Amino acid sequence: MNALGHSGFAEKRCPGFARINRAGWLDTLRVVTSVVAPTIAKGVIIRRRKMVRLAERQDLDTRAVKLMQRLREKYGPAPLLLPIPFRPHLLLLDTGDVATVLEFSPAPFATASTEKRAALAHFEPGNVLISPAARRAELRPLHEKALATAERIHPCSQQFKIIVDAEFQEILNTVGSGRPGELSWPAFSQAWMRVVRRVVLGERARNDVTLTETLNDLRKRANWAFAAPVDQRKLERFHQQVGRYLREPEKTSLAGRLPRDGAIEPESQIAQWLFAFDAAGIATFRTLAILSSHASLWGTAVEEATGTELDRPFTRTCLLEVLRLWPTTPAILRELTEDLKAGDRRLRRGTGIIIFTPFFHRDPELAFANRVEPSIWGPNEALPAMGFVPFSAGVAICPAHNLVPTIASLAIGALLSKADLSLLQPSLTAGELPGTLNHFDILLRLQARRARSAAAEL
Ligand code: HEM
Repeated sequence: MNALGHSGFAEKRCPGFARINRAGWLDTLRVVTSVVAPTIAKGVIIRRRKMVRLAERQDLDTRAVKLMQRLREKYGPAPLLLPIPFRPHLLLLDTGDVATVLEFSPAPFATASTEKRAALAHFEPGNVLISPAARRAELRPLHEKALATAERIHPCSQQFKIIVDAEFQEILNTVGSGRPGELSWPAFSQAWMRVVRRVVLGERARNDVTLTETLNDLRKRANWAFAAPVDQRKLERFHQQVGRYLREPEKTSLAGRLPRDGAIEPESQIAQWLFAFDAAGIATFRTLAILSSHASLWGTAVEEATGTELDRPFTRTCLLEVLRLWPTTPAILRELTEDLKAGDRRLRRGTGIIIFTPFFHRDPELAFANRVEPSIWGPNEALPAMGFVPFSAGVAICPAHNLVPTIASLAIGALLSKADLSLLQPSLTAGELPGTLNHFDILLRLQARRARSAAAEL
């Protein structure tokens, strides 16, 4: 039984929290300094290289999870009210409450939290994620249609494979024949972003690096949320740049599949896709690092990569494991849309809710907390009852929860089918993976397979 109580479930009405605990001032301060501040400092909307490196060196992510454990031991599993002046927040400590809060979104748990609105207004003010419930109901189906949310394999996947293969072949070409080469984050992400622009906006956008740079500038401001004013001119310029590709969109691009009836602010919807594909690239590169350093996973992944199927279930679950171990959305936020009764307390409308996913994903009571265990996922991309929600869950689940694993596994396959990879840095211990995996500093050794066997014959 979770703290929300189950009595209202049958009629799909959320009855309010059965109980909440209130954190002391010192513990509230600890959460702010050890959980909230490092998450914000690393960059919620675009990662800051220096801060990610610092988090890795100081092991800040592990420390944050440990603090959360201490709080659960001290206060119990009921939601913990953090009395932050002017902005009280509930911190969830129980997997059952995670599942329930996500199930009862957008009411009474709104996705459009104040913090999210402040951040995303910098580059996608009309996006579904920060829209009120009525508007969300109009916009959400459009994303689901374009991104083929309900389909495991997106209908345009064959075209996506052609794009991915071509762009990653360029990386393989730079390695050349015979000699091993190195694959760093900058080289990987340049190829990845070409894939993203082609997949989202079509062939014409392939080399539009300016578009990506403009978005990145806006994302850097978005990291500051309320603390920076929106750069209206740059926002307008970015939306114009996106708009150019929307006049005659290619049918097999995601933009071409976005229904355009009514005032849907397509630029704001598509901005989220371009932004979120960055996280998918980070997770894909980390998965390459994991596969390259885990002999037990390598063989099956290569088998899938050299096969003909577009669905690569094993590679997909490896990506999900990477997202469990190093979630790219570490904080899923909600906000109460109405006052709620919680035992003998009343929670005010507007109270924020924090689901700090690393805490649930890395619970030390799990035998596999710090290692890769692809089998846990089965055919799912979300296991809310266990608290494994890298793509969230419920009605606001990421509408690309099928698309991302598909494109990622195609990208991984494009390299694994043709090259042997090994991890040069960092050094990873399979049974004790670190709390932070700094993607900026991952370095892979790449050796084209055919070239190597030709050399061996000489
Ligand atoms: C590693 C890659 C990704 C991860 C881990 C991820 C995860 C998430 C999460 C956690 C949310 C928030 C849901 C909530 O508040 O409950 C979300 C929302 C969303 N994501 Fe993703 N995402 C990824 C990539 C993508 C991509 C590539 C796209 C589009 C092509 C996309 C489109 C969206 C949209 C449109 C929403 C808003 C959904 C709504 O509010 O109904 N995401 N995603």
